[in-house]
Amino acid sequence: MEKTFLMVKPDGVQRNLVGEIVNRFERKGFKLAGAKLMQITDELAENHYGEHKERPFFGELVSFITSGPVFAMVWEGENVITTARDMMGKTNPLEAAAGTIRGDYGITVGKNVIHGSDSPESAEREIGLFFNENDILSYSKQD
Ligand code: CMP
Repeated sequence: MEKTFLMVKPDGVQRNLVGEIVNRFERKGFKLAGAKLMQITDELAENHYGEHKERPFFGELVSFITSGPVFAMVWEGENVITTARDMMGKTNPLEAAAGTIRGDYGITVGKNVIHGSDSPESAEREIGLFFNENDILSYSKQD
């Protein structure tokens, strides 16, 4: 079954949105396969956001994502990568539709509450960066 990596960013943790965000994915029907509250190191941040290294906002991106705890998660389900991206809404919260996570809770493109993998390749890479294999659980759950 498909898996994706989702992360409540420091602004979302600060604003007590972890429960609300977990609730949305649970209610949708996806299965939580791994989760942890953690402080990201500079090294992990630079690796995770490696594809944005040449962007002018890279320094800002790394300093923000390491500014406080994040809530890292692995979610599982049919088509979870694309569906989670749809539920998150557009990267810029001002362009994100109402009813999406960023549309409902975000205002700025940097502090946009949540990150989610954009492809199967990124999902595999990001899950591997943030989780050990035995932190990802396989169990059955009612649909
Ligand atoms: P995310 O999905 O975590 O992936 C890359 C992040 O870069 C993105 O969400 C935004 O939060 C951030 N980002 C994109 N554009 C800008 C920008 N112009 N200034 C600051 N951050 C940005």
